[in-house]
Amino acid sequence: MEKLLIRGAVPLKGAVPVSGSKNASLPLMAAAILAGGRSVLRGAPALRDVLTMGALLEQMGARFHFSPGDCLAEIDTAGLNRPLADYELVKTMRASVLVLGPLVARHGMAKVSLPGGCAIGARPINLHLAGLEKMGAAIELEEGYVIAKTRGKRLKGASLYFDLPTVTGTENLMMAAALAKGVTVLENAAREPEVVDLATALSAMGARIEGAGGSLIEIEGVDELRPYSHDVIPDRIEAATFAVAAAITGGDVLIKNVRPEHLDAVSIKLRETGASVKKTPAGLKVKAEGRPRSVNITTTPYPGFPTDVQAQFMTLMCTADGTSTINETVFENRFMHVPELKRMGADIELQGGMAAVRGVPALKGAQVMATDLRASACLVLAALAAEGESIVHRIYHLDRGYEQMEKKLLALGADVQRIK
Ligand code: EPU
Repeated sequence: MEKLLIRGAVPLKGAVPVSGSKNASLPLMAAAILAGGRSVLRGAPALRDVLTMGALLEQMGARFHFSPGDCLAEIDTAGLNRPLADYELVKTMRASVLVLGPLVARHGMAKVSLPGGCAIGARPINLHLAGLEKMGAAIELEEGYVIAKTRGKRLKGASLYFDLPTVTGTENLMMAAALAKGVTVLENAAREPEVVDLATALSAMGARIEGAGGSLIEIEGVDELRPYSHDVIPDRIEAATFAVAAAITGGDVLIKNVRPEHLDAVSIKLRETGASVKKTPAGLKVKAEGRPRSVNITTTPYPGFPTDVQAQFMTLMCTADGTSTINETVFENRFMHVPELKRMGADIELQGGMAAVRGVPALKGAQVMATDLRASACLVLAALAAEGESIVHRIYHLDRGYEQMEKKLLALGADVQRIK
């Protein structure tokens, strides 16, 4: 298993380009199912999850080609004739569930393995299923699979309310509604930029969607959609991770290929710690010196502080001057990084969904183990800031969501090495 060897306490300096968004690319790839023919996604990151989604589409009979050099994903769904997502692939990537809505809408049925629980929480898909059922699908659960079938020829438009603003749930049902008969209204929808990016591509495919980016989305179903050609948005979580990396090492980094407006909550909190975060025509410039001030955060759905940046920000708070509270409200179990940070000398106390972080003057290098994608990013940040040498194990988690992380860090002057 590969690991990263990092010698820390080196301020990061220079410029870093952000890759295309993983969490926008995955629903966009699933959306190709809605049209017969060749869709083209530009800027998709060369990450395992993108390849997994490609493999899933190939198993269904679609053709998938990815050129990592120019980040081009091509999906031809002309031959898609097997609306099935097998356990073997779904168990490696929960976002596989995004094929459910498009398959039922276009092929009248889908058999998709139920994703299990994961390291950050139970993560049920009840809201996806309740929405499809309300749109007229018959849903059965059989041997770990969801089998969904339209009752008539097509799904029907419906008024849906989400108890929680679920990101992939909103995406799944928006895609299903695009080909349903009649109007669908999604209330308390997720407002994340990835939802908006999907709506933009769907509209270019011929869908009629209004309100994406707000909590009420209205979709008037159409009979047919055409393939898309689309540029994916930059990855706001990768950008935020590099912003924290700059702050935690007392560095000076220009983050290129960002939409600063997608990073408002993170930028505000970073400024509160004393870092300078400036929007420039070339990108977002993050600069910091000395110990950060302690700052409290509460994760909430967009536009609030993202749960996907909680672990990284907590790491920054580990060396803050003062005590901060980190309140995780989106996932019930997203503190798996805490015991690992403690091994590096952090002083953190957990109580339910809340962590009290008492800043220490410095973290110390250690061997640590990644448990999920964002936890692995936070351990890399901790190692970059720590005095001495660290080894981060199980970085396959990191590779799921960060394209060429160590190469980008090397270019910023970090002392990092991948060990096979
Ligand atoms: N929830 C339910 N029922 C559902 C769906 C969600 O109870 O049917 C709950 C979840 O358990 C959670 C909350 O609602 O407590 C929000 O979950 P959401 O459905 O929004 O999460 P997701 O769509 O499964 C996406 C991202 C995650 C990110 C979350 C929250 C993708 C592919 N994944 O997951 O990204 O953390 O939204 O912003 O878009 C990551 O990239 O590291 C990652 C985990």
